[in-house]
Amino acid sequence: MPTIKAAILGFGTVGEGIYRILNEKKQEIKRQTGYTIDVTTILVNDIAKERMPTPGVQVTNNIREVFEQPQLDVIFEAIIGEEPAYTYLSEAISKGYDVITANKAMFAAHGPALLQQAEVCGIEIGFEATTAGGVPIIQTVKNLLAGDRIKRIQGILNGTSNFILTQMRQEGLSFKAALKEAQALGYAEADPTDDVSGKDAFRKLMILSKLAFGKQPVWETIDIQGIAQLTHEDIIEANRGKLRYRHIAEIQIDENGNLSGSIGPVLIGANHPFYGIDGVDNSIILDTEYLGALTLTGPGAGMYPTGSAMINDLIQIVNTRKRELISS
Ligand code: NAP
Ligand code: HSE
Repeated sequence: MPTIKAAILGFGTVGEGIYRILNEKKQEIKRQTGYTIDVTTILVNDIAKERMPTPGVQVTNNIREVFEQPQLDVIFEAIIGEEPAYTYLSEAISKGYDVITANKAMFAAHGPALLQQAEVCGIEIGFEATTAGGVPIIQTVKNLLAGDRIKRIQGILNGTSNFILTQMRQEGLSFKAALKEAQALGYAEADPTDDVSGKDAFRKLMILSKLAFGKQPVWETIDIQGIAQLTHEDIIEANRGKLRYRHIAEIQIDENGNLSGSIGPVLIGANHPFYGIDGVDNSIILDTEYLGALTLTGPGAGMYPTGSAMINDLIQIVNTRKRELISS
């Protein structure tokens, strides 16, 4: 039976989601790709931590044991921060493994270099899960670019912030209580500072900018505001006036190719497409030259939405490889 051997770097919310979906959808994935996916190794920080059972899988805290696996084909990466993730994925590419990442902190900073390296080495990189969780925004932008031009991107890109704003408005929760709930549900980062400061949305916007416009603005030119300064009173007061706060990241390109953008809370009325976007959902409006405005909405964080985006990347990569084999 043809098998693809995979490793998972990181076994928290996202890593576990990948593993669960690979098991739950084994037959479906086999039907779609012709392959059985066999997870051989899982990399974590703390091997003593209690986790869900993963029979037959080597769990290690040593990356060398991952790279020593015979006939590894693909690496899923769901660890924290720029390093060591960038170094690990760069080595994976140089060894000839396809990679699929959810790590936006790493990919916003090092995605351009990794994509360049991957092109030289003939390697595929899946990064759908880095931006807007389960919403297929990366694939949509890639498809649009084939025959259209994107002029502006506007999005609710952080599920935790949107969840907190929603819980404060609908349930009357305090900021702290709503954040605690977002953490318990696996939406927030291990350190939620970047979620509520706007930095996480900024990184996703930079990933979209590189993809849609071929470049990123100078990071320091983008004003980044989070939601932490909004009080319960601000939100209730806005609601009384039939307005809602949304945390919106946006970037546009002018006729001369100059990029400008901003990130922060915005008061919007009922006629705005983001007015009804509640809970952990993300939503993105793409303004394009020919199609006009396209809006995508869906779960922006969490185990299954994010894991599912990574499995979709896997299926696409396997099918791309199959087409390459047939045509060679
Ligand atoms: P998490 O629950 O905190 O899990 C992180 C996992 O990575 C843990 O298993 C941890 O090991 C492991 N880890 C961290 N640093 C490591 C290192 N240097 N070497 C080896 N293992 C390491 O985080 P998560 O929510 O799954 O997020 C993982 C990544 O996906 C992050 O980059 C995050 O930004 C991104 N992401 C998350 C979501 C989401 O909804 N949560 C959505 C999209 C993208 P231990 O278990 O031993 O601590
Ligand atoms: N912490 C992130 C969020 C996870 O809340 O949007 C998804 O990238």
